[in-house]
Amino acid sequence: MRVLVSGGAGFIGSHTVVQLVAAGHDVVVVDSFANAKPSVAGRIEALTGQPLELHAFDLTDHDKTEHLFAEDSIDAVIHFAGYKAVGESVEKPLDYYENNIGSTISLLRAMERHGVGKLVFSSSATVYGADPPVPMREDLPTSATNPYGWTKVMQEQIFRDVATASNAAGRSMRIALLRYFNPVGAHPSGTMGEDPADVPNNLMPYIAQVAVGRRERLGVFGDDYPTPDGTGVRDYIHVEDLAAGHIAALGRLEQVEQPVSVWNLGTGEGTSVLELLHAFERACGRELAYEILPRRPGDIAASYADPSRAHAELGWRAEKSVDDMCADTWRWQSQNPEGYPSG
Ligand code: UD1
Repeated sequence: MRVLVSGGAGFIGSHTVVQLVAAGHDVVVVDSFANAKPSVAGRIEALTGQPLELHAFDLTDHDKTEHLFAEDSIDAVIHFAGYKAVGESVEKPLDYYENNIGSTISLLRAMERHGVGKLVFSSSATVYGADPPVPMREDLPTSATNPYGWTKVMQEQIFRDVATASNAAGRSMRIALLRYFNPVGAHPSGTMGEDPADVPNNLMPYIAQVAVGRRERLGVFGDDYPTPDGTGVRDYIHVEDLAAGHIAALGRLEQVEQPVSVWNLGTGEGTSVLELLHAFERACGRELAYEILPRRPGDIAASYADPSRAHAELGWRAEKSVDDMCADTWRWQSQNPEGYPSG
């Protein structure tokens, strides 16, 4: 299949591109490089042994998006592109709505005009809202607590409406909404991984930067949650397992009857902040400094998936352990202390 991967230079996108090529797909990447460095392309090429077809533009540019679809014969799209920082989305909501919703509309218009009917979307467990029951199942109602989360809820709705209209008009559009839990880890080679542009918002990259000496200590946001050790519990999933979930979903879209399918991609296991920190200490071989800080506004006590639907319908399940996630993250971070080279 010829697969267009939007945001293919990003953390999850780059790992998925490598697996798509390994699975025999023909890949074309579009990335604006708003949140990725161009040097990732060379790392992808080194792993696949093939030149990467890459277009550097923003999907909100309708003319360029249209031109790409007109010139190419794309069979399916995996749509990762989007802004993803919760705090920034609260400060700059219009940037988030304009970029995340705008790129999706531009993409869907081009897909419709050129008869491309298969899409896998990078959604998030954030769509389960403020205080969902755990483990989280796909049939829970959706809502959000910040503009980033609302862009995911809204994009899911746009996909549902467009798929329904398209099928009513006799076109067999099939869309997969993949709700990720907490993606972490890195390519086992140590050559690709997560590379936050600023101070990391998320736990794993923050711990990795403490371990490599870029930050003094981890701030643990709250130790008075109703969890076994009082710190927040999350469902961390290795980016390699997540990438494999996309390949499985893409294959499954060939067979599903309904226009829209929703699959959680998580392990189903909860890990606390301190458990993750201690697992990372084992991986890097030394103690890491931390201090307990107040809770971060908007955080919930525990979030983990019920991943049984993805297992039953995709034959997919996460295989890598928290120790694998830490070992691979540490290999990446220690080999690339400053992330990808600039330029
Ligand atoms: C966060 C976002 C979520 C988004 C996801 C993307 C918030 C409130 N939520 O999820 O919407 O989909 O990232 O990956 O930002 N922690 C610390 N110290 C830190 C960083 C985090 O103690 O420096 C704790 C948090 O309180 C939480 C856990 O670590 O208990 C995981 O945090 P994080 O990695 O930011 O993920 P989420 O909050 O689950």
